[in-house]
Amino acid sequence: MAGMTVGELRDAAARIRWYHSMNIGHGVVTRGEADPQVYLRRLHLPARLDGSSVLDIGAWDGFYSFEAERRGAKRVLATDHFCWSGPGWGTKAGFDLAHNALSSKVKSLDIDVMDLAPERVGTFDLVLFLGVLYHLRHPLLALERVFSVTGKQLILETHVDMLFSSRPACAFYPGGELNRDTTNWFGPNPRALIAMLQDVGFRHVEAVWRPRPLPLRLARAIWYAGIGREPFRLARINQSRCVVHAWR
Ligand SMILES: C[S@@+](CC[C@H](N)C(=O)[O-])C[C@H]1O[C@@H](n2cnc3c(N)ncnc32)[C@H](O)[C@@H]1O
Repeated sequence: MAGMTVGELRDAAARIRWYHSMNIGHGVVTRGEADPQVYLRRLHLPARLDGSSVLDIGAWDGFYSFEAERRGAKRVLATDHFCWSGPGWGTKAGFDLAHNALSSKVKSLDIDVMDLAPERVGTFDLVLFLGVLYHLRHPLLALERVFSVTGKQLILETHVDMLFSSRPACAFYPGGELNRDTTNWFGPNPRALIAMLQDVGFRHVEAVWRPRPLPLRLARAIWYAGIGREPFRLARINQSRCVVHAWR
């Protein structure tokens, strides 16, 4: 950690609005909106990434970029725009502070998903595209961009919807329909997600974490309503998260 005492680091961390709750060393754990450890378990990220290059698209505070570095990746690039310098509520302050505190060698680039191209960033053995797809107005086009910078493998985590349908289907959320967040646009079902990835060129696509079965989703919706976390909404039982691995 360059140029800071632990007390200064703790104070600097307390002034930042974090997205990721994460340990940035020296006994400092950030208080974020999201606990990425929960999602990390679902990703099936290789235990070791020695010698690999990794691109983390939509990195925000950088938890997954730093995790890839910790697992031995030799080159990690964290990219974001919306929450670093765009209209999102976040900033890059958390990433920069964590980067310094962890004495990280992760590189960063402020670039929109839609501007990703091999000429701009190169290609990477492993691409992480986590929690971003449903925020995009043009998901299929975005997946084309993601494919273009994937050297070997993609790990994609996203919100899914339309789980009742046995056909490839996608929900559209105009005007903040999903979680009253106007940055949420589309919720494909896993079947549509896999078909979209195949359509942009991935040869082998596999869901490694699938939505829980209907009775469990129903029980969860009732439980959340019971503890006052959110009102009971039937649409919720057709929504979940999904993790997909895709290979070129
Ligand atoms: C829910 S956060 C996920 C952050 C991190 N990848 C994770 O999984 O914890 C969504 C990320 O997508 C990025 N993003 C890119 N384009 C976006 C857009 N058009 N609207 C909202 N977020 C967008 C945000 O900047 C943010 O970092």
